[in-house]
Amino acid sequence: MYRGGLISIEDMSTEEIVDVLELAREMAQDIRGHSTVAQGLIMASLFFEPSTRTRGSFESAMNRLGGRVISTVGSGSSSMEKGETLVDTIRIWSKYSDVITIRHPWEGSARLAADYASVPVINGGDGGHEHPTQTLCDLFTLVAEKGSLEGLRVALCGDLKHGRTVHSLIFGLLRFGAELFFVPGEGLGLPEHVRAKIQIQYGRQIERVPPGDFEALYGGSGLEGNGESSLDAIYMTPSRPHQRTLLEDEPNFRLQISPGSELVFYVTRKQVERDAGLKEEGKAGGRYPRITRDTMRSRFARSIVLHPLPRVDEISYDMDEDHRSRYFVQAGYGVPVRMALLSLALGLRPWKKAEGQGDGTDSEDGTVRAQGVECQNGTCVVNQEPQGCEPGFSVMQGEEGDLTFACKYCGWHNAPAFYGVQQSGQLIYKPIGRLRFISQHQLHQFRFFADEEEARTQRYGLSVREPEGSGRVYEVTE
Ligand code: ASP
Ligand code: CP
Repeated sequence: MYRGGLISIEDMSTEEIVDVLELAREMAQDIRGHSTVAQGLIMASLFFEPSTRTRGSFESAMNRLGGRVISTVGSGSSSMEKGETLVDTIRIWSKYSDVITIRHPWEGSARLAADYASVPVINGGDGGHEHPTQTLCDLFTLVAEKGSLEGLRVALCGDLKHGRTVHSLIFGLLRFGAELFFVPGEGLGLPEHVRAKIQIQYGRQIERVPPGDFEALYGGSGLEGNGESSLDAIYMTPSRPHQRTLLEDEPNFRLQISPGSELVFYVTRKQVERDAGLKEEGKAGGRYPRITRDTMRSRFARSIVLHPLPRVDEISYDMDEDHRSRYFVQAGYGVPVRMALLSLALGLRPWKKAEGQGDGTDSEDGTVRAQGVECQNGTCVVNQEPQGCEPGFSVMQGEEGDLTFACKYCGWHNAPAFYGVQQSGQLIYKPIGRLRFISQHQLHQFRFFADEEEARTQRYGLSVREPEGSGRVYEVTE
């Protein structure tokens, strides 16, 4: 958890996730039987973006627990409209409530809120970044449907680029060993920072494979002919051999789902509000995976369909009565899951499996600052309300010496191509691959550049060659 609340699914240990799901099951069994749990407590419900389910189920959950709710709905109804900062807004709501749930269009806004709030903050969706409580609902649905989270095969379909539910769900599923398939709309594949995190942080391989049976989702036309003839798959189920071997042995390998195999389709809509281009092209633009009764025949006959909702037209309406469609049931689970999360975050129910994992208040920040490294994401809170933010990056170094900095607010990556250092009184710059990085504490000795032009503008000169010799310094003792 982060400062007692929930900002990213990665703030939760696996034990904490299991505790929420187990308590949610208890709550779901007797949804009206917990009406004194949060008596006397107030939840502030701050929704600066549209919402039906997240806001509705959070408010319902707090009411079902016997607590009360105060709220702001839409950006126009708060004094932020008059120019008040998010930070000040949160300072004030903290005084009026015992827990805050927030949805806001800036990526990293929930984290900034948590850093200034004196009560736990729960992220109800921060821009295209994360939506961790949706992931808890998704995982709860998967357990209810499949009996367990182990060994799942999940096809994540649609707008993987802007879909915050997808980003959080990937990180939620990775720890349970799921096999994932990415089935994106045209030009809406996973953003680089999510891909990098999967590979660097979770150590999973992403393989490109031909669409095979998934062609059916694109109306059978496949992706061929438009230069996008493959999909991504993460092969990571520990009990199975790594599929790379399979690919190498059979170059014509196509993704064939056996008729009996039980897949989970997790479908998402185009997030038109996050991209002006998408809004303009609307329905017309690009191929987009779609689920219909036809697609769900034969190979996918035993698969189920989830969707965080709202659905636009990526699932045909004739699927609604189909027993494999579980998206409305999934939305209903929002209440018990959020009842459980609120009870645990407010300390009204004890953590069980996660007992003893600290006091549930904080995970160490562990981020660093480096000269010349800035978050490039225009909708990150760090670029929208810089006065309240303390920029920070988690840093990873690849085998080639390349450094990747991930913004602590929005997760976007910055991978500088050059670094500069003062050597023998001169400012010189070198390709990043030459940097032998020893510890985070040494970072302040360097300055980082995206390209050579930037280095030269800062008056750094190119290091033509490395000095010869071992570079050792000897002192002759007396
Ligand atoms: N309701 C989800 C969200 O807010 C999914 C969506 O809007 O498409 O992220
Ligand atoms: N699933 C979800 O977040 O729905 P809302 O956008 O309606 O809250």
